[in-house]
Amino acid sequence: MFKGKVAFVTGGSSGIGFGICQMFLKNHARVVLCGSTQEHADAAVAKLLEENPSYELTAMGFDVRDYAAMQAAVNRAVEIYGRIDIMVSNAGISGMGKFYDYTPEYFERVIGVNLFGCFNAAHTVAPVMKAQGGGVIIMTASNTGDYGTFSGCAYPVSKAGVIGLIRNLGRELAKDNIRVVGVGPSLVESRMTAGLTPEVKAMVAANNPQGRFVTPEEVAGIYGFLASDAAYRINAVMVPASGGGLD
Ligand SMILES: NC(=O)c1ccc[n+]([C@@H]2O[C@H](COP(=O)([O-])OP(=O)(O)OC[C@H]3O[C@@H](n4cnc5c(N)ncnc54)[C@H](O)[C@@H]3O)[C@@H](O)[C@H]2O)c1
Repeated sequence: MFKGKVAFVTGGSSGIGFGICQMFLKNHARVVLCGSTQEHADAAVAKLLEENPSYELTAMGFDVRDYAAMQAAVNRAVEIYGRIDIMVSNAGISGMGKFYDYTPEYFERVIGVNLFGCFNAAHTVAPVMKAQGGGVIIMTASNTGDYGTFSGCAYPVSKAGVIGLIRNLGRELAKDNIRVVGVGPSLVESRMTAGLTPEVKAMVAANNPQGRFVTPEEVAGIYGFLASDAAYRINAVMVPASGGGLD
């Protein structure tokens, strides 16, 4: 399905991002798997190569808040593979904590990773996509960006910003044949949700219409569809992947 295409995935070393890399590789894309450190990215790549030694992929480790590091990674990906067809800006952290316990530094950190990470990814890859005739940028957002949540305020604020970027850049970059779309997953088994106690997990699952957590593989296909030509008319929107839940 993605033969000849190159996908660049931030937050690819674990959870949803790892599942996305696996899905693209299974569908014959070449992949740049990015993690917050080179060690994390290398370990994830080793795991995927163990699964299938013929996968074509490269590990890169950097902080998505660092614009120069993102630029360098995008440049290197173009040096290696000649193009970037799909950018998945997926790296993120949760902003857990009660409002009264929040500090400005923590608020800034969550916004930095989740929102500036998406700006940096889009801003560095868009000229590459424009020059090659087009591409697709997919950002991992969240329904919480639309509805908020009961604590951890920086998280929904950051995701509301990501939804704003998707809506704006989808319209602004369409003339360059670049689509910008989002996915709003929820209740996905990952490092981010592993910290929840079994009681909280059970409560959250019971409040979801589908009643359970899902695996990264169960949402990765949505990214594949959105990255494909079949989704050409889908632009400037976030597609919820929450089983009907608002979280
Ligand atoms: N798990 C869920 O239910 C859920 C729900 C809604 C949205 N999301 C979003 O999905 C995305 C992936 O999260 P996940 O659930 O797979 O969790 P995860 O913790 O397994 O993955 C997060 C990834 O982001 C990377 N990352 C974190 N900080 C970084 C930084 N400063 N620089 C570079 N990379 C960094 C990590 O290395 C990791 O690869 C996030 O954007 C998250 O907000 C997850």
